[in-house]
Amino acid sequence: MSVADLPKVELHLHHEGAAPPAFIKQLAHEKNVDLSKVFTADGGYAFENFVHFLSVYEAASSVLTGPEEFARLTTAILEESAANGVVYTESFLSPDFCGGGDVGAWREYLAAIEEAASAAEAKHGITLRGVITAVRHFGPEKSRASSLCAAETAGDFVTGFGMGGDEGQFSQGAFSYAFEQAKEAGLRLTTHAGEFGGPESVWDAIKDLNVERIGHGVRAMEDPDLVKELAARQVTLEVCPGSNVVLGLFPDFVSHPIQKLRDAGVKVTVSTDDPPFFHTTMRREYEELEKAFGWTEEDFRALNATALDAAFCDAETKKTVA
Ligand code: ADE
Ligand code: ZN
Repeated sequence: MSVADLPKVELHLHHEGAAPPAFIKQLAHEKNVDLSKVFTADGGYAFENFVHFLSVYEAASSVLTGPEEFARLTTAILEESAANGVVYTESFLSPDFCGGGDVGAWREYLAAIEEAASAAEAKHGITLRGVITAVRHFGPEKSRASSLCAAETAGDFVTGFGMGGDEGQFSQGAFSYAFEQAKEAGLRLTTHAGEFGGPESVWDAIKDLNVERIGHGVRAMEDPDLVKELAARQVTLEVCPGSNVVLGLFPDFVSHPIQKLRDAGVKVTVSTDDPPFFHTTMRREYEELEKAFGWTEEDFRALNATALDAAFCDAETKKTVA
């Protein structure tokens, strides 16, 4: 058996970022929206750097309107993830893209997404949980609306709160109100840090937002004290090697710090981030890690056990996935 055939647990997947380009292209066509600059000649997403990626991501997301379209998107994403052997996935859902931060509208989007997820679970045996996400460059005020949406719908499906977006804007601490509001509602916390921000962004995330997981976190490697701290606190990193390589953080998988972080005792997991943007899948991530570091079936099983342990779902769900 190839290691890529193993059942996989994914913790870091952006819902809009997982939209197949053909899906977005079709919606743009139906709505008469010109998205020609969003696509490459061969039908992929076109971007030149991280900030450009974020603007292309938003342009593509702009044609996703209404609960029904998010339901169809959910079906497409889960079909693709299941085909790659994913049995459990957490996706980042942004109220900013689902009703604009209005709790009533958000409930409608969420109901449609959950219904599609239940159907996919019955059909493909894949479980989805939602991590409600603020978009950092949209600012602290919008993050409060997003976390209120999260808090109002916290439960079996909505299990976490997080933040993505441009790490160059604002500080982690500027979002502490949103994270506290989510925590009070019983949600578990994660934030993007140490991707395009340096080690200080990771320090801020653990000190100012008190998160138990970090999206990416790979630039922690630049600060040995931080690596020790992450290991001591047992913070789990949602590492997305293929995303990091395509966005130019590291030239290739061999140069990626995931192995060194793991050797230093940091809890690492593997995810795809925005798979069609980065020409990746969970199968491909596994194949590349096997090639780059010689990871064995035992290594990948341990990786999945770490991911399931750090998943935000309840213990009952974990038992059904394991
Ligand atoms: N939103 C979608 N993908 C992202 C990434 N890799 N970093 C920050 N925000 C994102
Ligand atoms: Zn991400």
